[in-house]
Amino acid sequence: MSSIIVGHRGVAGTHPENTKASIEQAAKLGLKWVEVDIQPTQDDQLVVCHDHTLERCSDGKGRVDEHTLAELRQLDFGNWKSEEFSGEKILTLSELLGLVEQHGLSVNLEIKVDSRHQAPHVVDLLHSELIRSNLDTDKILLSSFSHQVIVEIAHHLPRYRVGVITEQLTQADLMLIDKVKAFSCHMNYEHVNQSDLDTLNEAKIQTWCYTVNDPSRFKFLSKVDAVFTDFPDKFSAIN
Ligand code: G3P
Ligand code: MG
Repeated sequence: MSSIIVGHRGVAGTHPENTKASIEQAAKLGLKWVEVDIQPTQDDQLVVCHDHTLERCSDGKGRVDEHTLAELRQLDFGNWKSEEFSGEKILTLSELLGLVEQHGLSVNLEIKVDSRHQAPHVVDLLHSELIRSNLDTDKILLSSFSHQVIVEIAHHLPRYRVGVITEQLTQADLMLIDKVKAFSCHMNYEHVNQSDLDTLNEAKIQTWCYTVNDPSRFKFLSKVDAVFTDFPDKFSAIN
């Protein structure tokens, strides 16, 4: 089996993660899939950003959800990676979906919530955005570490495929996968074992593993359905 290579946060190894530049690089490399992280702003706009705070990937300070979209748009999300990306702006989910459509990509939207967020509210915002998008439902895979988010997605967005993310597969994950009829399980490649793969294969659940940045270090590479990577170039010879 040849695994799908998913550009993690676009192509995060060489481009500023979760930005337009990063998504465009994925398309340029010929990837079919990208993964991005989604979370709400203070004024309930969904934006593409991994951390709940701004310091690492922008010139801003504080929490994403303590800024309005207008405030976040003033920030530079590219310069931290390299001067050549200076001026890169935060993407809204709506802009991201447009980019994905424009480049004929498929996208895994990872929904990030923390203790400050109500899962039903965030999924409600997601619902509003997705119904406005022209992207086919089969080009979108929704995922989250949060079991509450997964349950809400399965209930309110039943037309979309859903992936349960976990560091290491647990009985609770398996119960959730069964309950929501998940499409896939996304596991940390460092903890995955043969028994996990057998269990999921038997249940006909796809196995996606993150974040594999050196193909030679993942012994199950040929046995899983997809891998997330910051460096898709390293997989070109085997894809
Ligand atoms: O969705 C797979 C992977 O992105 C999960 O971890 O922290 O990189 O969002 P993280
Ligand atoms: Mg992610």
